[in-house]
Amino acid sequence: MPTGVAILGCGTVGSAVAEMLLNEKLLLKKRAGRSFDLRHILVRDPARPRPGIPRRLLTTDAAKILHDPQVHIVVELMGGIEPAGTLIRQALSLGKRVVTANKHLLALHGVDVFRAARKAGSSVCFEASCGGAIPIVMALSRGLVANDIDRIIGIVNGTCNYILTRMSDGQTYAQALAEAQSAGFAEPDPTMDVRGTDSAHKLAILAALAFGVQVPFEKIQIQGIDSLDAVDLNYGRELGYVCKLLAIAEKINGYLSLRVHPAFVPRQHLLASVGGPFNAISVFGHASGQTLYYGRGAGGRPTASAVVADIVDSAMGTADVLFRELPALAGRSPARIMPPSAVVCRHYLRMQALDQPGSMHRITGVLGKKGISLAAVAQHESRQDSYVPLVVMTHEAGDGAVTAALRVLNRLNCVRGKVSHIRVIDPAQAV
Ligand code: NAP
Ligand code: HSE
Repeated sequence: MPTGVAILGCGTVGSAVAEMLLNEKLLLKKRAGRSFDLRHILVRDPARPRPGIPRRLLTTDAAKILHDPQVHIVVELMGGIEPAGTLIRQALSLGKRVVTANKHLLALHGVDVFRAARKAGSSVCFEASCGGAIPIVMALSRGLVANDIDRIIGIVNGTCNYILTRMSDGQTYAQALAEAQSAGFAEPDPTMDVRGTDSAHKLAILAALAFGVQVPFEKIQIQGIDSLDAVDLNYGRELGYVCKLLAIAEKINGYLSLRVHPAFVPRQHLLASVGGPFNAISVFGHASGQTLYYGRGAGGRPTASAVVADIVDSAMGTADVLFRELPALAGRSPARIMPPSAVVCRHYLRMQALDQPGSMHRITGVLGKKGISLAAVAQHESRQDSYVPLVVMTHEAGDGAVTAALRVLNRLNCVRGKVSHIRVIDPAQAV
């Protein structure tokens, strides 16, 4: 007897899941031993052309879907907090299993949603919420269950990684973002991607799974790629670095540090070679050591691969068992979060410095006063301008000290405009 499925949303991911369930029946029967009956797809606009999707499946009536007794699994692929959250809770209370890719909802309201699922004796599967096709949720909750996890460091946003890759090939930020949107990598609101919010949503979910804690989303330090200047990517390249948007969760002295920011990664490091819409997530377990998960992090079919795996788990009943039994999914106590100012790493700074005696002295003096030691300083000659680019690489310094120094540097009259600042990940931190 086939398992009845309904999908809420028929955009990039919803349509790819529908096509997989409709067109790959033989493969699913062979690989998963199951048949699926796709019964309804919820949309806002049924008149919109959707090639490959039979019109008879489309509806705007959510209640009809949720009250259909033949629907066993509800797959939420609309995105956003509402109405997705309410529909998921209603589906659970009506005895449906839920599959979702909605990291935004889970990062902010996962504890409530999971509680509702437990109360209903049901489950919520969310493999596609992080890392697209990469089975990272399964790895963290099951494959690495024998490990105390120390650190997660990864590239978890395909759109940003695509943009940074294309910018390093010489394309403009705007062109690269437009391409990422048309390929279906970006969120409906792409500011979620480029400001780092989507990466932070994923980091909240991954950290909750890895460290078995509740993650207060508002405590994650978030900086996106929207204020990066291509000039800095070029200087970074000259110095042997590649710029990546990283999501990092690590235990430091009994605290959890959670941060999303652009970072220079040494060119020879594994994460530096992750290009385009690909994601890569490094997880450090006390027994496993480093493990690395790599694959397509965004796009319809890669994400559908993870969603359909969850549909199969739900149909087999394994999702219910895991959901009920695994403490990693329960998120017991709130995490003790380390203040961002206490995080230590190397820093790249670039400024337009007045080309006059004393400028360098004043600038390095500000850094020295804040206890920031310089590893390298390079001033580039300019024949046309009285201000010249000054690039500084620091030794390890606290984020708080660098932030305080930047506040002073940005007000110096020998510095024009705002100082560019990119954190630097040393190989020792990333392997
Ligand atoms: P999308 O292309 O914008 O599709 C959203 C779909 O939801 C559309 O079909 C839309 O209907 C429908 N919808 C939205 N609000 C609705 C409402 N109030 N009532 C009925 N239908 C509604 O989004 P997407 O890229 O597929 O993403 C879906 C989810 O997957 C999001 O949570 C996203 O974060 C997540 N995700 C996306 C990717 C990716 O690569 N795109 C990867 C992993 C996870 P209409 O078609 O009628 O407008
Ligand atoms: N917008 C997201 C990204 C989709 O670019 O990574 C995958 O979660």
